[in-house]
Amino acid sequence: MEDSKAKDVGMPATAQSAELSVILPSFNEAANIPILVGLLDTALKGVRWEAIVVDDNSPDGTTKVARDIAARDARVRVIRRIGRRGLSGACIEGILASSAPFVAVMDADLQHDETMLPKMLDALKKDDTDLVVASRKVDGGTVGEGLSSIRAWGSNIANGLAQKLLNVTLKDPMSGFFMVRREKAEALAPQLSPQGFKILLDLVSSANGALKIKELPFTFRERQHGESKLDTLVTLDYFGLLLAKYFGDVVSVRFLMFGLVGASGLVVHLVALRLFLLGDMEFNLAQTAASFVAMTSNFFLNNQLTYRDRRLSGVQAVIGLFTFYAVCSVGVLANVGVANLMYADPAYWWFAGTAGAVMGAVWNYAASAALTWRK
Ligand code: GDD
Ligand code: MN
Repeated sequence: MEDSKAKDVGMPATAQSAELSVILPSFNEAANIPILVGLLDTALKGVRWEAIVVDDNSPDGTTKVARDIAARDARVRVIRRIGRRGLSGACIEGILASSAPFVAVMDADLQHDETMLPKMLDALKKDDTDLVVASRKVDGGTVGEGLSSIRAWGSNIANGLAQKLLNVTLKDPMSGFFMVRREKAEALAPQLSPQGFKILLDLVSSANGALKIKELPFTFRERQHGESKLDTLVTLDYFGLLLAKYFGDVVSVRFLMFGLVGASGLVVHLVALRLFLLGDMEFNLAQTAASFVAMTSNFFLNNQLTYRDRRLSGVQAVIGLFTFYAVCSVGVLANVGVANLMYADPAYWWFAGTAGAVMGAVWNYAASAALTWRK
């Protein structure tokens, strides 16, 4: 009797599943997570919520701190990522790990006002809304004490560019605090870039106007413990994302970055060549030496920028450098080979040259992804 009853209901008597998942990307937030979970508990009274901490193996032991809480409180879950870094990627993984109808993405450093969550949930539950953004730029919202004036200025420029280039009408596309219908975010997930900070901008521009959005005002708080991870590299990633989206995702942010590094390598090469020649080196030797200087510079830049989420260090970096030399040497052959095939008419030397360079870049990109920065 008992059994058939359970079947009728279709479910054993377990705890009710969450209605709202709060994704908390974290890197070195050990001091903040326990406080935040307490604040969520107070702010979300009456809501069936869960928190998913997505920690990129923080050296300060954030994972352990979060797991200790999870061991006592079933509403807290932890994803520990090893060998990967990146705010957007962490948010995407957190969203994909949720089964709740609504998911919020929120910084784990107490800068986001958790008392906004119930208001955001109410707004999201209305049929005409798919995404609610906690915005510093609508009436009533401010950047408060949370942003230095230089960053506020940078943030305004970044906003303006996003609005112009990507036709995004959001007032605050850089906000890292939002709530979305899970199924909508899940449908867009394959198009999102795991690199960089701008998950919201990525979501909205990938949706191409298909998301019904509401912005609610909020005040960005000052950070109390730990420090911000937004740095120049993150800014570079951001411009990469803007360009990739602007060109309709024909090429990935990674490929674009790889191309930019390659272009910088040309400059390095020419400077090195000039110096070697000034030093009375014989041309062929100088050209070869300059190639190695450029390849080395490309390797380190790619390791810092393009593959910062898979960065090689120690012995791995040395091995990586040598595989990169090997890959690029074959790349030169591909380049010259294709250029030769294309070179039929002297009037179109630039066409053959470009075709060769593109072929070389595509080869270097694909082969170094498979050999040097392989997963
Ligand atoms: N898992 C993971 N991996 N989490 C990360 C990483 C990472 O590589 N980098 C940062 N985080 C986490 C931090 O631990 C924090 O919880 C949150 O992401 C935001 O990082 P901060 O370093 O504190 O960023 P911020 O305060 O400078 O920037 C915030 O405000 C910007 C607007 O001014 C973020 O909300 C940005 O998304 C937002 O654009
Ligand atoms: Mn912060």
